[in-house]
Amino acid sequence: MERRPLERVRGTQDHQTRQATSLDAMRTKCETAFGLHGFRRVDVPVLEPAELHLRKSGLEIISKLYSFHDLGGRRICLRPELTASMVRAAIAQPSPRLPDKMFATGPVFRYERPSRGRFRQFMQTGVEVLGAEGVLADAEIIALAATTLDTIGITRYTVTIGNVGILGELLTHLGLTGRRRALLLESLEDARRHGIEAVRTRFASLDPDLIQPGESTRIRDSAVTAELSSTSEDALARLVAQTSAGDLGRRTLADVTTRLAARMHADTARAAVDRALAFIGELGAVRGDPDTALDAARALLEAHGLDPKPLDQLSETITLLDAFGVKRERVQIDLGLSRGLQYYTGMVFEVDHEALGAEKQLCGGGRYDDLYRVLGGRQSVTAIGFAFGLERLVLAKEAETIDGTGDNVPDAVFVVPSTPGDAVIAARAATALRHIGVTAALDTSGRAARGAVAFAAREGFAYLAMVSRDDPPETLRLRPLTPDGVPADDTISVPDGPIPITSTLEWLRANPAPSSESTGLHRSTNRSETPAEARS
Ligand code: HAM
Repeated sequence: MERRPLERVRGTQDHQTRQATSLDAMRTKCETAFGLHGFRRVDVPVLEPAELHLRKSGLEIISKLYSFHDLGGRRICLRPELTASMVRAAIAQPSPRLPDKMFATGPVFRYERPSRGRFRQFMQTGVEVLGAEGVLADAEIIALAATTLDTIGITRYTVTIGNVGILGELLTHLGLTGRRRALLLESLEDARRHGIEAVRTRFASLDPDLIQPGESTRIRDSAVTAELSSTSEDALARLVAQTSAGDLGRRTLADVTTRLAARMHADTARAAVDRALAFIGELGAVRGDPDTALDAARALLEAHGLDPKPLDQLSETITLLDAFGVKRERVQIDLGLSRGLQYYTGMVFEVDHEALGAEKQLCGGGRYDDLYRVLGGRQSVTAIGFAFGLERLVLAKEAETIDGTGDNVPDAVFVVPSTPGDAVIAARAATALRHIGVTAALDTSGRAARGAVAFAAREGFAYLAMVSRDDPPETLRLRPLTPDGVPADDTISVPDGPIPITSTLEWLRANPAPSSESTGLHRSTNRSETPAEARS
């Protein structure tokens, strides 16, 4: 039998203790923030009917779907995201509660090209609000994403806001529906990635005639061409009859009229698509700080005769973000943002981190007012949500901690009783440290203090705390550690004497561990926050 070691599936990861702990800590911080905003937890299955995503997620996600037929012949998929599952679960409840604010966390699967920060199996944690009316809901959701990052101590992020409803409105205005509409909506993303000329070429190759016989398109915009109504088809028939003077070869008058009408429809549709593509190009150029971008957007919408309401809403959202504590300099507008998921109907947003390179997106979300119905809900329900990629949050936090700009999280302390007679006082010290949110591992081995120091250093603890009855009550002596042992006293700040346990957290913050990049088990972000800190 072959005994060659088996490799893990490409794009998946084994999380050794430290990474697993970091991901868990990140998840807890996000979920704590969601809970503070009144969201309730739900768990949804990893396996879903593939149709859940085929209905409305769009090509970008469907092309990456892990799907298969189970032994009962049903087409099943591994969920590629959480939103559709959460909406399905909400619809399945005996009596839907609206508004409903939920969060869920778990692994999702996409057949991606793996790279740093881009996996085929990754963790998402996300929120959804069902029954989310207006700009207050838009702003609260964006603010929840931003303030969660603040709580985690991730600072170098930017929030970019767009609105896919504006393009949707133009397509409706031009009478573009069905497949063509879906393709054009998806083109917003393609135009950003590959340029508008690449999109035009793709359109030409995909849909050369732009209209299939029998498919009727009503083009309402007189700027594109004259309206083709059934009345005009009658007029066309009369015209054909007059000009052909009865000489139609083997074709009937109805045949000729239908073919001619189809030709005109095709020309009209082509003109409408051309105009939509031109608009997509212009829309994609509207980006930058909110004031400048909104001015440019107003001019564009006016030029195309479109309702400026989405821009008024965007402007109100930005004012509200300020009230929710999101700094204005973090916010950008980008009307070319489309997010690759087809269920969005209005405001969309992403949060990027400057240190993460190509996979810089920490979070994405937006408004999806049709999905509830599309997935079988009996009524229309406005909805909005977002999801974080947990692995990327960990990468962002690490990048900031290593660069020294973030809020360094104090690492684990190894608490050693100086003598066996100091057991009670050591137990008290470890408990007090844990109360203020510092991870404290108590040395219960009974070995001599020297052996304990060597052990703590080898195991990667960041600090050593010696406790002794000879020191004042409620104090300890802290020593930073490196993996090689206690550093020389003049290379790192070491408290002169015992410090009060209650001020340990401040001291740890002011004196980060000498090598917090270490992969040691205990030198990690495994300190959970006190409830008071989580709120700050
Ligand atoms: P999404 O932008 O596709 O949105 O994914 C959300 C987040 O998951 C991204 O911002 C990113 O941090 C992370 N992510 C995406 N792909 C990968 C990958 N291959 N590897 C690692 N992390 C990744 C959604 O999934 C929507 N359901 C969000 C939403 C909720 N919209 C409304 N409600």
